[in-house]
Amino acid sequence: MKKTIAIYPGSFDPPTNGHLDLIARGSKIFDELIVAILRNADKSPLFSLAERRLMLENLTDDFKNVRVDTFDGLTVEYAARVGANAMLRGIRAISDYEYELQMALMNRKLHPELEAVFMMPAEQYSYISSRLVREVAQLGGSIKDLVPEMVEQRLKEKLDPAIKLQHARKPKAGRR
Ligand code: PNS
Repeated sequence: MKKTIAIYPGSFDPPTNGHLDLIARGSKIFDELIVAILRNADKSPLFSLAERRLMLENLTDDFKNVRVDTFDGLTVEYAARVGANAMLRGIRAISDYEYELQMALMNRKLHPELEAVFMMPAEQYSYISSRLVREVAQLGGSIKDLVPEMVEQRLKEKLDPAIKLQHARKPKAGRR
């Protein structure tokens, strides 16, 4: 039988528990899942491409059929380059539907062989978006339960570089 390779494209700035939930679901139904981070020169992301890639690589380490990559240009062209036959996207609420439908139909027009597959994250993640996570964190609110612990720590360091310095200076236990 033909191997199913799916890409899961996005900005992942930063990766959230919703993204991780979708990756876990996708890894169960596809033979191979490629988390593809868009290299978008127009946007000024909070996390650099390298930072996002490193976080996602660490967070998906346990999924043996998941790998992380970066791309620029058209998603459908990237999908064709890596031999993907499906594109995974998450739909959280009706409000996502219109944008996703438009994008899916445009992608279908450009590359009819690529199937869009939509999955719903667990209910407790249905209101989480990277944009809201960034906003809440930037305004000093708690982002616990919204993002993995590692991302929470990276966000704290990003928004308050003094925390990173403290961390670096902390003497290791048992050392003088
Ligand atoms: O996480 P996001 O920001 O919702 O992801 C959007 C993404 C990366 C899937 C979309 O912007 C995209 O595919 N961009 C690449 C350029 C492209 O192919 N544009 C045509 C889309 S119909």
